[in-house]
Amino acid sequence: MFVHTRKFLGLTGMELDNASRLRQHLEKFDRCSLGHFPTPLEAARRLMPSAAAPSIYVKRDDASGLGGGGNKVRALEYLIPSVLSSGADTIVTAGVVQSNSVRQVAAAAAKIGLACHFGMITDRVPVVDNDYAETGNIFLDRLYGATCEPMSVRDDKPRFLQAMADRLSREGRRPYVVPYGCANALGATGYLRCALEIAEQAASAGIALTHVVHASGTGGTQAGLIVGFALLGLDIDVVGIDIDADPIGVRARVTGLLEQLCADVGLDADRLRERIIVEDRYSAGHYGMADSRTVDAICLAAQREALLLDPVYSGKAFAALLDFAAQGRFSSADRVLFLHTGGTPAIYAYRSHFDRGALERDRETPCRGMREGQRYRRMS
Ligand SMILES: Cc1ncc(COP(=O)(O)O)c(C=O)c1O
Repeated sequence: MFVHTRKFLGLTGMELDNASRLRQHLEKFDRCSLGHFPTPLEAARRLMPSAAAPSIYVKRDDASGLGGGGNKVRALEYLIPSVLSSGADTIVTAGVVQSNSVRQVAAAAAKIGLACHFGMITDRVPVVDNDYAETGNIFLDRLYGATCEPMSVRDDKPRFLQAMADRLSREGRRPYVVPYGCANALGATGYLRCALEIAEQAASAGIALTHVVHASGTGGTQAGLIVGFALLGLDIDVVGIDIDADPIGVRARVTGLLEQLCADVGLDADRLRERIIVEDRYSAGHYGMADSRTVDAICLAAQREALLLDPVYSGKAFAALLDFAAQGRFSSADRVLFLHTGGTPAIYAYRSHFDRGALERDRETPCRGMREGQRYRRMS
């Protein structure tokens, strides 16, 4: 049970002081406007209609605008000014074939008139399927004019990116490396700002949030939210769902970024480290692979609230949220915000995993998930 006893209506005087402290901190950074902010914060009553269920809200960071939206747009609003001030003409980054991060970086590069060159990790996700290889995010990367070169999950990412940047420099370009997942302290500042946005939206709607649930991978989203809520003096549990099948790695990345943000804002990291919650049972055992529970959760969200979740990130996080509610880990008094971090274009790449049966509407058992025999083919 996530125990929560706190009662709260609106930002209190002290929280308003904290909000202006956070705002002042954010003003120290250059930020460029790339996305559509604030994203909506919506009630989603049909997701859990039972009287015993907590109240569910959705923060629509899938609707952040730029290039198909998603959580990295917030990071890029802080990273792009640094790219521009470096005089770069090419952004270098990396991700899997269906990386949402790469797609958002490629879109940002297109928007500001820079080239984008990325390392495409071809062997992390054992899916052998033309949709995966050609549609969804990778299709959009190409549409935004980005170019790629293959890399392996075994490559050391920072070293590979630096080697790529060095080679581009020798060719006369001026590269800037945006790290894997846009995950550094500057990028995570985007979710410090999001914490403030959520607090203000919730306060003006009179919603006393108790939990935020979201997919966690490279850690910037979760670190930014935890530090942001702490700065605001808000006791909201940020529940990160491990989508990497590597909860220790996810926790370590969240911790590293949280420590950097704490140092920047003058908070005690020791106290905040214990607030990091990483749930480890919803990754389907492998990054980039969906199980029937994930597919069922995606179908439920689509059929009850017309929300488009993806099989790699937001679908797994939402499956976790449904399971927490089924296990009674929330009380009916809780107000739970599902942070929809995006990933929608990947749905097309994973099309083969939504069979006819899975798409049939059935209010009791929302959908059947994948047929046996329609599992991902694993590479031997
Ligand atoms: C759709 C989506 N949700 C969640 C995440 C995880 O966010 P973070 O890497 O900040 O932990 C990602 C990361 O790429 C993502 O693409």
